[in-house]
Amino acid sequence: MAPTNVAFESWTQNVRLVEWICEMAELCEPERIWLCDGSQKEYDQLAALMVESGTFIKLNDSLRPNSYLCRSNPDDVARVEDRTFICSEKKEDAGPTNNWYDPIDMERILMGLFKGCMRGRTMYVIPYSMGPLGSDIAHIGVEITDSPYVVCNMRTMTRMGSAVLEMLGDGFFVPCMHSVGAPLEEGKKDVPWPCNAKNKYIVHFPEKRTIWSYGSGYGGNALLGKKCFALRIASAMARDEGWLAEHMLILGITNPAGKKKYFAAAFPSACGKTNLAMLTSRLPGWKVETVGDDIAWMKFGKDGRLYAINPEAGFFGVAPGTSDQSNPNAMASIKRNSIFTNVAYTDEGDVWWEGMSKESPKHLISWLGEEWTPGSEKKAAHPNARFTAPIAQCPVVDPAYEDPAGVPISAILFGGRRPSVMPLVCEAFNWQHGTFFGASVSSQTTAAAAGAVGKLRHDPFAMLPFCGYHMGDYFRHWLAMGENAEASKLPRIYTVNWFRQDNEGKWLWPGFGENSRILKWIFERTDGEKHADETPIGYLPKEGALDLNGLSLSPKDLKELLTVDKKGWQNEIAELKDYFTLFGNRLPEEFKEEVRDLEKRLNS
Ligand code: OXD
Ligand code: MN
Repeated sequence: MAPTNVAFESWTQNVRLVEWICEMAELCEPERIWLCDGSQKEYDQLAALMVESGTFIKLNDSLRPNSYLCRSNPDDVARVEDRTFICSEKKEDAGPTNNWYDPIDMERILMGLFKGCMRGRTMYVIPYSMGPLGSDIAHIGVEITDSPYVVCNMRTMTRMGSAVLEMLGDGFFVPCMHSVGAPLEEGKKDVPWPCNAKNKYIVHFPEKRTIWSYGSGYGGNALLGKKCFALRIASAMARDEGWLAEHMLILGITNPAGKKKYFAAAFPSACGKTNLAMLTSRLPGWKVETVGDDIAWMKFGKDGRLYAINPEAGFFGVAPGTSDQSNPNAMASIKRNSIFTNVAYTDEGDVWWEGMSKESPKHLISWLGEEWTPGSEKKAAHPNARFTAPIAQCPVVDPAYEDPAGVPISAILFGGRRPSVMPLVCEAFNWQHGTFFGASVSSQTTAAAAGAVGKLRHDPFAMLPFCGYHMGDYFRHWLAMGENAEASKLPRIYTVNWFRQDNEGKWLWPGFGENSRILKWIFERTDGEKHADETPIGYLPKEGALDLNGLSLSPKDLKELLTVDKKGWQNEIAELKDYFTLFGNRLPEEFKEEVRDLEKRLNS
């Protein structure tokens, strides 16, 4: 077997872990095995290795210390949903929204793909915790990868290294196997971004709690703690164990009197979760702080309230559109110790992307490594270009972001990109009605996944690409979570929509920091304020209830944002009924009831 950098015995006492590493090394035939300790020294060493190999470009240290630019293969730039598989034992358990593959057949395919796939490369072993070490909501995973880019990103995105092994002892971990699928034949020079663009497999075995990823080095395809573990596998664990693994940001909000509440919010990929999570309030005295920007794991506490942790330790945010205007806190978070993937490179040795400044620099090297000047046909940065940065660098990181107990959630928000029909904000009548809100989310597609952009698609709970089992059973699980809880202690549920447009395509709502006005209304509602009108679709803000001080919004636009568009809703219902047939007899009866009631309320 390939040599290791340190002896197994000095690294872990976990027999199952050592056996698994040996088995994988025999299968993949790497040249050497690197057991990660998660130290800064190790990170720097790997970064230097990647600078030498051409994978990383070190940015100008005086402008952006300890930061790197990386350009991927142009055929490996986003999550690949059509190459993502759920291999549950029974096909019906994967459900209609997942690509199912027979687990035995898939294992055969994987054995063929992984045989010798790390020849000429180093096999890195990354022990990591999703969630603060020692939290009883957290879980441990171990990723094996042949990509040093993955190791460096995982160090920022998770708690990684020796401390995790100590916590693990001889306990349970989720094995996560990753290869870029590009063995390096002897004497052959490596490329900066090795991958197997035409042959990607992102595979999950929910019953066995294992993950296998082949061919891609990018984002959620390769940083297996994120979408693969923290959402697809964790959603199956959560169903079995009675908790929630969700595609949600977590924010803390404090009112001028110093009272604090926490909200969780689900939006489909690249719909502004990072912006909302670290929003700069436009309302004097109101403050938002960040616990997480992408994923929430939530469990009921002994007091009956729902508590959330952010399983991640970093941001893997969409760069284009991020600026000092749209998200100054994100800009401050990425000032140092960051990795930038597929952004443009400036003549000063810094990074740039569309939307970072009004005027672009006069000359850049684009994400494709090509000369770029203003007016160039191609974009300077890829629309799904990303930054990887530690959450601790966020100027508004919440003091409780590392609290193992998590933070108590008062409100859950669902949103999407909807140019019409969905109002700016609406409160559900109760938990069941709110889960119906979650199930009804649809949104225009974005560049976060390979495929068409701007197409309206259903994305229930913003979990369409991330639910590791039958979506109908997932709906049922949400309902059951509410049924088993004390109703008065449950978070209230809202739908929000920052993306309404008028007939000419003009945005009706300014969004970004102005969304604090909506958060304020939600805060006050959860605090027992009335401020709302009952309408057929839920509670809408009463006239004058939204704090619009200092905002120039025409009464006509405000009306459009907050009226129930009866015709639009009738179409929505017809469409939703049709969509729900997809789930057959696994669609909860409660949702049929919700559709019927909504229809009745609209027609009365
Ligand atoms: C992400 C995504 O990267 O949702 O967070 O695609
Ligand atoms: Mn996401």
